[in-house]
Amino acid sequence: MARVVVVSNRVAVPSADGGVRAGGLEVALRSFLKRNHGTWFGWSGRVVPKSEIETRTVEHAGVSYVTVDLTRTDYQDYYNGFANRMLWPVLHYRLDLAEFTSRSLAGYMRVNEQFAAQLHALLRPDDIVWVHDYHLLPLAKTLRDRGWQNRMGFFLHVPFPPPEVLTALPKHERVILSLCHYDLIGFQTERDADNFTRYLRDECRMPSRDPKTFIAGQRTVRVGAFPVGVESARFNRLARRMVRSSFVKEVRASLADRAMIIGVDRLDYSKGIAVRMDAFEHFLADNPAWRGAVTYLQIAPRSRSEIVEYAAMERRLGETVARVNGRYGEAAWTPIRYVNRAYSRSALAGLFRSSRAALVTPLRDGMNLVAKEYVCAQDADDPGVLILSRFAGAAVECQAALLVNPFDSEAVGAAIAQALTMPLEERQGRHGELFRVLSENDIEFWGERFIGALALPVRDSPPMDDGSASPKRERERRAIV
Ligand code: ADP
Ligand code: F6P
Repeated sequence: MARVVVVSNRVAVPSADGGVRAGGLEVALRSFLKRNHGTWFGWSGRVVPKSEIETRTVEHAGVSYVTVDLTRTDYQDYYNGFANRMLWPVLHYRLDLAEFTSRSLAGYMRVNEQFAAQLHALLRPDDIVWVHDYHLLPLAKTLRDRGWQNRMGFFLHVPFPPPEVLTALPKHERVILSLCHYDLIGFQTERDADNFTRYLRDECRMPSRDPKTFIAGQRTVRVGAFPVGVESARFNRLARRMVRSSFVKEVRASLADRAMIIGVDRLDYSKGIAVRMDAFEHFLADNPAWRGAVTYLQIAPRSRSEIVEYAAMERRLGETVARVNGRYGEAAWTPIRYVNRAYSRSALAGLFRSSRAALVTPLRDGMNLVAKEYVCAQDADDPGVLILSRFAGAAVECQAALLVNPFDSEAVGAAIAQALTMPLEERQGRHGELFRVLSENDIEFWGERFIGALALPVRDSPPMDDGSASPKRERERRAIV
């Protein structure tokens, strides 16, 4: 079988201290490579002077991890700049937070070129390349420019907005249309895939063979939804074991029989943590009987802290926690416990199982693996309740959760009350349905489905004439791609 070379900005290189970093991409790809082996290429996470840039290779359990360093300028322009201050907010529908500069776009293109050069040097003739996430949209073009002809796939872990939002991205044709150098482009949900095909069809007038197959010059580009799952049964076993650990026992003892509600997110404005705290405040205001009887634990490791919007959000969250705790707290009870650190997967699994409800209320999220992990960690006989934003990709599969509009903090507050008082039979019914759906889309199927689809032969029927392929538009489009 051909070797799969996975490429992403972050690479979860195994470390001696077993250190953890929060992030859905790492969790999904670690699990894929554990089963399929291959190579994982990307940024080392190190920022160094140009003269000290190194490429390192670590071999571990059948996987080669190849990482490269970035200079401070590249890190600022590519990672902090274009990827995280322009693409991230636009892809999460936050045009108000997007900050465009030509300099950051140039840095983004430059780093993609550098990655392509380094990657090209290590590719073998029959390799399949699978690229991940918004940092590397133009990587296929830069590899094709170097003569790489093999199949290449791309998967976007974050949402893809409708063309009406996306076209606010300056130079969107240059960045987004370069995706058409991949053979298969995968999204988390059908809605994201539809937004992309609508962009290609209506905005770029790209000719298509069928609604999900486009003709880009000599290339056929297919589009599909491949929702990322979690290791459902394994996570359940882990959680079952971990509730007996001294760590979880200590946390439970500290609650003194109070119910626990949990939130676990990277500290990111897309996660809606501040409005969630507002919702908890509404809940305490409207349900005095629960004051002193429930503790909300929010675990939120810092993320992208050098970016001004993240630093501002961090300050605002600190103020919100202080306000709620100041208003409702007692000498013997702190309503919100707020922790800015990462925990091991096993510690999280045990905490999930010990919580009566999870608050997963992103304002917009590609998938949200925390929601799925929470469900899988539960005791089927006495499960907790998932309160989930309708704007998380996970909501498509998790219809049996308490689905909420995260912008309506009063309604989320009411959902907290509903979760805490939900009869056992209803909790069991909802959990049974959720666990069944999530088991059917276990993470092990995700990579196999994607690589299987990427390997499928492309039908060589003539393009479907949908009236969109005018010669003029085609010339314009070719000039752009
Ligand atoms: P994102 O990729 O945007 O960070 P996801 O919810 O899809 O969001 O994935 C986050 C992943 O990182 C999950 O697997 C979750 O368990 C893990 N994670 C989140 N917060 C923490 C934390 N505090 N400590 C360790 N892992 C975390
Ligand atoms: O999928 C969301 C994502 O951006 C991943 O690419 C990444 O693993 C995670 O969030 C963490 O972000 P960062 O790599 O910027 O620390």
